[in-house]
Formats: sequence, structure tokens, C-alpha cells
Amino acid sequence: MGNSPGTISESDAWQCVLALRYRQRSQPCAEGWALVPGPGGFGVTAIDASQAAAVLAQVDCGGTVDVCGSISAPVAALLQLYLPFCAGAADITVAHLGQSLDGKIATVTGASHYVTGAQDILHNHRMRALFDAVVVGSGTVQHDDPQLTVRHCDGSNPVRVVIDTERRLSENYRLFQDEEARTILICAEDKADGPSRHGAAEVMGVPRCADGLSPHRLRDALAEQGCRRLFVEGGGITVSRFLEAKCLDRLQVTVSPMIIGSGRAAITLPEVASLADGLRPETRRFDFGDDVMFECRFDA
Ligand SMILES: NC(=O)c1ccc[n+]([C@@H]2O[C@H](COP(=O)([O-])OP(=O)(O)OC[C@H]3O[C@@H](n4cnc5c(N)ncnc54)[C@H](OP(=O)(O)O)[C@@H]3O)[C@@H](O)[C@H]2O)c1
Repeated sequence: MGNSPGTISESDAWQCVLALRYRQRSQPCAEGWALVPGPGGFGVTAIDASQAAAVLAQVDCGGTVDVCGSISAPVAALLQLYLPFCAGAADITVAHLGQSLDGKIATVTGASHYVTGAQDILHNHRMRALFDAVVVGSGTVQHDDPQLTVRHCDGSNPVRVVIDTERRLSENYRLFQDEEARTILICAEDKADGPSRHGAAEVMGVPRCADGLSPHRLRDALAEQGCRRLFVEGGGITVSRFLEAKCLDRLQVTVSPMIIGSGRAAITLPEVASLADGLRPETRRFDFGDDVMFECRFDA
């Protein structure tokens, strides 16, 4: 085996996180769990008093992580960041945006590759691997033609979900064609009457509400498809709608030390009259190289 609690590498720690996550897919985690060294490497085991000496980190059902032992700072940060998504509630929605210092996620023309650096891109892939589904708005598909698969780290591809109310997107975008993962196009119910497939993607209709599609309805419809853990990856309009509807448990904003000066906004909410009406959630902060990621907790 050769590993001891003091020498776990980042890649071993990521394997432990994945092991915990995938175990939870078939067996929701009601108790605390621990990462312990086992035969052939590191494994994940239910906390057991007799193994207390081997515990590297444990996380409770509220998502609080307790890192034990002399592990390196990057490994401790990795466990602190990702373990809450492995042992918390069965239903969770987390959004992420990468923005400039002046709060832009892309230029006016939609160019966004890349506002944030390599560590934030890796983070996005890790988040995809830990969630049932990755959700994006039609604007992101139109501008980025994204794959939304897990490529920068180990892990399984999530279900890919695109919100396209009027079903205006062409079937030719990569994620509608490549069959790399189950893909769902969500549109208004009255637009779901046509072909049941959009390229290779399934089509799911959701009732219209006053302003497009209700994030609550979207969440419920996806839960019926087995997608209870949602990672909303952009863009700004989509994430803002989830936030405004109080449909986010956590919002991660990675800030890059660049100023674009114009462009597409990250978060846009209805005007408030006073600063006291602004949101001041509890936050966690992680350094991603030159970037800083703030994670806002709305479920605390
Ligand atoms: N830096 C980053 O982190 C990041 C991440 C992702 C994307 N991006 C960039 O951001 C830009 C796209 O972002 P964006 O804010 O313009 O658009 P977006 O959020 O990707 O898509 C917005 C569109 O999605 C549909 N939609 C989303 N939620 C909906 C809801 N609840 N109900 C109804 N329709 C809903 C609507 O289109 P319909 O009305 O047509 O249905 C809406 O106009 C691109 O330039 C992309 O490159 C940046």
C-alpha cells in the first residue's frame, strides 16, 4: 500500500472523494463518513471508533468537514471543498460562474474562453463529476458549443441539461450530437409537442410561468428523471434566475484579477432600495492560483 495518512496526494484524495460520491449514488449517506487508508490504497469507510487513528477527514450530514492528521494544505483544501457535496443532502443545487473583477463573465459578443484560469476549469470538471446533472442556458450553448463532460479529472459524466424555452437551438451543437452522456433539452411544454428527440437529446416540456420557466419546476422535473443534485454552470441569466427564485443551496463565484470593462453580467437581480436588502450569505473562500473562489451558502 505504501500510503500513510501524512502522505496522501491530491490525486489519491480525489479518488477518495469520488469513491464517497459514487457510493452515495446508490446509498444516500445518512451518517458521517471518513477517508481511511485501506488495502491497495485509500478507501472510504464508515466512521468507526476502532479506526479513529486512520481517519483523514470526516464530513457530517450538514456538510461540515473536519480534516485530521498532517495532510498537505492543497489536499486539505480539496477535501474541504468537495466533501460537503458527497455527504450532504440528497437534493442540492449549486451554481458556478467565473467572472472578472468588474463582474463580467464574457465580452459583449459572448467570448468567455477563458475569464478564469486552469484551476477554475479543473474545478468545473470536478464539480461535474460530483453532480447528477450539469445545467446551462441556451446562451451558453449558442456561444460556447460546450461538451459539458468530465475531461480534466477522473469521474463520470453527469446528465447534460440545456434550458431552451422556445426550442430555438439548432440540433447541430456538439452536446446534441456526440452521445457522450445522457442529454436533456428542457423547453416550454407547448414546444415539446414536436419530435421527442433534439438530435440525440431527450426533450422535456415544463409549464411556462410569468417569466420563462420556473427554476422550481425545472428542479422538480429533473428530480423525476433521477437528477436531484444539480450543478448550474451558467451563464449569468440562468444562474441569476435560480438565485432569484431561491433555488440555489450554494453559489460559487470565481473572481479573476482582470477587468473587461464591458460585457455580459454575472449576477443580475431586481433592484434593491437599500444595501441592507443585498444578500450577505455565509461564504467559504478558496485560492485557485491567481483567482479566488467565493462559495456562498444559502443552505446554512
Ligand atoms: N464565465 C463563466 O463562468 C461562463 C459560464 C457559462 C457561460 N458563459 C458565457 O456566458 C454567455 C452566456 O450567458 P448568458 O447569461 O448570456 O445566457 P445563458 O444563461 O447561458 O442562457 C440564457 C438563456 O437560457 C434560457 N433560460 C435560462 N434559464 C431560464 C429559465 N428559468 N426560464 C426560461 N429560459 C431560461 C433563456 O433562453 P430562451 O429564452 O431562449 O429560452 C435565456 O435567455 C456566453 O457568452 C458564455 O460564453 C460564461
